[in-house]
Amino acid sequence: MAGSSFGNLFVLTTWGESHGKAVGVVVDGCPAGLDLKEEDIQKELDRRRVGQSRVTSQRKEEDRVEILSGIFEGKTTGAPISMIVYNKDVDSSKYESIKHLFRPGHADYTYQMKYGLRDYRGGARASARETVGRVAAGAIAKKILWEKEQIRIIGYTKQVGRFKAQKIDFSQIEQNIVRCPDPEVAKQMEEAIVQARKQGDSLGGIVEVVAQHVPPGLGEPVFDKLDADLAKALMSIPAVKGVEIGTGFAAAEMLGSEHNDPFTVIDGKIRTTRNHAGGILGGISNGEDIIVRMVVKPTSSILKTQQTVDIFGHPAEIRVEGRHDPCLCPRAVPVAEAMVALVLVDHWLRNKVSQFDKL
Ligand SMILES: Cc1cc2nc3c(=O)[nH]c(=O)nc-3n(C[C@H](O)[C@H](O)[C@H](O)COP(=O)(O)O)c2cc1C
Repeated sequence: MAGSSFGNLFVLTTWGESHGKAVGVVVDGCPAGLDLKEEDIQKELDRRRVGQSRVTSQRKEEDRVEILSGIFEGKTTGAPISMIVYNKDVDSSKYESIKHLFRPGHADYTYQMKYGLRDYRGGARASARETVGRVAAGAIAKKILWEKEQIRIIGYTKQVGRFKAQKIDFSQIEQNIVRCPDPEVAKQMEEAIVQARKQGDSLGGIVEVVAQHVPPGLGEPVFDKLDADLAKALMSIPAVKGVEIGTGFAAAEMLGSEHNDPFTVIDGKIRTTRNHAGGILGGISNGEDIIVRMVVKPTSSILKTQQTVDIFGHPAEIRVEGRHDPCLCPRAVPVAEAMVALVLVDHWLRNKVSQFDKL
């Protein structure tokens, strides 16, 4: 698969399958001299881990990361950083009975058509287990962004089914199992997810990510605009079906006078009085918070009986057993944060050569 790498200067390549021996990532282009410990990576992986609560998959993976290369005496050396996480709780038995069937909404049919064969165990590369590598690489990106610019990246579940967060209180996000910044709505979301699971079904939702203190100037017109790269990064997360920046699709119903963000000066800095642009103009960050949202579809693996066909085209019925998340949003939050961090660190490095006078 030639599409397993991402980034221009800060480049990650993820590898490994859901039910293979291990998953991991190689990060190339990380500047030398960054203090980096396994704990820096582990704390992010712990947020992505399964089995955290009654609204996530019950697969029990401890996801312990080992850094294999690129660190000497606690600092990055500039060499590729290779990280590995062994798959310990692999149970492929549930996939045996459906190995010839195409799961509706999953990647079985398209992988079969593209490659002519398919590792049917747990979704293999199409499984979100692949995102372990993204979160591990994203932890390094976050550390660089924080230490150099105090950039903070905060993700949360904004909507599950018809329940929408009415207020955004960052301090509440990690206090509830759905990662919603509105504690009252969080309870409703949790209940809705549990009900969907009981009915053998699943729910979709929206994850929002805010990046604070991003300096103006990040983004490379015209094809590598910051918003274009963020859209690609988030759309590459399994189950993501749409991305919005700032006001996003609601802009269709607004007037120019409503949507334009007026400029002003605050504490000697040029700022805008509101942020419909989501912190990006002309594909370049403008110094306001970057605000991106992604819609996450309802988990395709459900217990309800569905109609399908087998690889020979014979009609069949399928019930997808196994350990699946009834709503993907809570666990998609750290993955979305990682992808935003990876785009920002890549553009932050690229922006270093944008002006002759600064060389
Ligand atoms: C964090 C996370 C966890 C996921 N867990 C599951 C899961 O348990 N079961 C499932 O069917 N899909 C899960 N998915 C989504 C599938 O990997 C995805 O729907 C599938 O690869 C098909 O790709 P597509 O939905 O992007 O078209 C998960 C996605 C994410 C981001």
